[in-house]
Amino acid sequence: MVEWTEAERRAIESVWEKIDVNVIGPQALESVLIVYPWTQRYFGVFGNLSSVSAITGNPKVAAHGKTVLKALGSGVKNLDDIKSTYAKLSELHSEKLNVDPDNFRLLADCITIVISTKLAAAFSPDVQAAWQKFLDVVVSALSREYH
Ligand code: HEM
Repeated sequence: MVEWTEAERRAIESVWEKIDVNVIGPQALESVLIVYPWTQRYFGVFGNLSSVSAITGNPKVAAHGKTVLKALGSGVKNLDDIKSTYAKLSELHSEKLNVDPDNFRLLADCITIVISTKLAAAFSPDVQAAWQKFLDVVVSALSREYH
């Protein structure tokens, strides 16, 4: 099981309190689709993703970005049980959606980039380290059901 110091717990919660999932989620998903265009192939049902403006103006991308970030909130609330928190989602991404798990890291990095831009000085090196540890654990949990 992952060990968290009290400072790490506080840092992760402080990041979560400062962000609006309805803003950060869409921006992070848009970023991953723009910067790593191969990730678009999983979202064929979302319609037009053919340009930056099509992606940023696509309501399905925005809605799904909110869904993804809300799911991250479950991890923040269950820091001591991240593995089972994401077991079902891992199974879904592996068995049904066939998402290559390398893409989890790419989305996690986009989430961190968007958050760091938003939080500016409040995203101190210590806060960033705790936040990235948290995302590493989430990525690992999401990758568990792959075989
Ligand atoms: C931090 C990482 C991620 C989290 C927390 C996450 C979370 C979620 C959640 C909560 C859902 C909805 C599940 C449901 O409807 O029951 C979902 C669906 C989906 N995810 Fe992920 N996801 C992540 C990464 C990714 C990545 C990297 C990709 C592809 C590049 C991806 C592709 C999809 C697709 C295609 C769906 C179905 C969308 C639809 O048809 O509505 N996910 N994800």
